[in-house]
Amino acid sequence: MTRPVGPVGVGVIGAGVISDQYLENLTVFPDVRVLFVADLDVARATAQADKYGIAGSGTVEELLAHPEIEIVVNLTIPAAHVEVATAALAAGKNVWSEKPFALDRDSGRRLLADAADRGLRVATAPDTFLGAGLQTGLRLIADGTIGTPLTALALMQSPGPESWHPSPEFLFQTGGGPLFDIGPYYLTTLVQVFGAARKVTAAASTARPVRTIGSGPRAGTEFDVTVPSHHGALIEFAGGGSAQIIFSFESFRSRTGFVEVNGSAGTLAFPDPNQFDGATTVFDGTSDDGIEHPPVGSLSGRGTGVAELAQAIRAGRPERASGEQAFHVLDLMVSIAESAERGESVTLDSGFTRAPPVPADWDPKVATL
Ligand SMILES: NC(=O)c1ccc[n+]([C@@H]2O[C@H](COP(=O)([O-])OP(=O)(O)OC[C@H]3O[C@@H](n4cnc5c(N)ncnc54)[C@H](O)[C@@H]3O)[C@@H](O)[C@H]2O)c1
Repeated sequence: MTRPVGPVGVGVIGAGVISDQYLENLTVFPDVRVLFVADLDVARATAQADKYGIAGSGTVEELLAHPEIEIVVNLTIPAAHVEVATAALAAGKNVWSEKPFALDRDSGRRLLADAADRGLRVATAPDTFLGAGLQTGLRLIADGTIGTPLTALALMQSPGPESWHPSPEFLFQTGGGPLFDIGPYYLTTLVQVFGAARKVTAAASTARPVRTIGSGPRAGTEFDVTVPSHHGALIEFAGGGSAQIIFSFESFRSRTGFVEVNGSAGTLAFPDPNQFDGATTVFDGTSDDGIEHPPVGSLSGRGTGVAELAQAIRAGRPERASGEQAFHVLDLMVSIAESAERGESVTLDSGFTRAPPVPADWDPKVATL
């Protein structure tokens, strides 16, 4: 069989809130061609396809039967991620999935094995760590700017997303909560700095068992909160170093985007790990304000990882936002949840290969294929 060449065909499954950010970018990245949008709600898929000038829309089955689609971009709710990814692999498609990778270790492992057996990829969000903001911070650490990373603090606290998301139930159910919804951005950044985690000790709480939708057509509707809305944890890394994290939808004071790493020769404050841009600040003890490093690299948003995956597929090299890394972050989140439930530390044995830095001049808006 001849290997395909040129831009990579993409089909998007899930035409909800986040699909706009993806479609705005994927439709201008020259190395991918969005060919089809599907959703359980076909009218929603068609509306998004029309809005972005995409030729095809319809059911998931129709999308999976499309012969030119090589990557399925899975933007469904967390509870559907594994089912949709598994169906895409069975149809011979590579997968880019929104986070979390899976809801439990077993289904995550099955997904990795399934992809490996078929010679396909299951790359997974977040792709923010490929953006100029985090890459600039990661490059500074790799260059030795703060010496050896020793400890870190990661913090995201807010009242919760039910005020702005029109269908926020999934954000407070299994696969959601601040740990699974927001944790992947912060934890991916931490494992990019320290490598794999080895042990976690955590505590959790749930402030309110019922919340109220704050916007959209169902505003005022109450729903149940079935997972903790706050996790605090101490993470110890296999290669040395530790990090303290707080992920909370229980704070009336919003404080987001905080990831600070203390090294043997300085402290580095990353920009918000849920964004692609923002400056990194390095503190070396000579000034209270620190030294600001503007972001160098791609400022494109969500979908950046899909373009990188497309280029990796054509080049026959590993993609950077790999399923293996996403599985380790899943293992870390599950371990934090288990540690809080059991009241004891949990040890992890998964690992991953850290991706090489993105070249500073790499830009998904530039055609390479
Ligand atoms: N909303 C955000 O700001 C945001 C940001 C980053 C990442 N994400 C992630 O993106 C994903 C989607 O979030 P959202 O906010 O767009 O949710 P959403 O509820 O707005 O949209 C999800 C869409 O997926 C469809 N869907 C669900 N199950 C399906 C299935 N089995 N087959 C086909 N379609 C299915 C739904 O009909 C819906 O249109 C989640 O994993 C979320 O964590 C969301």
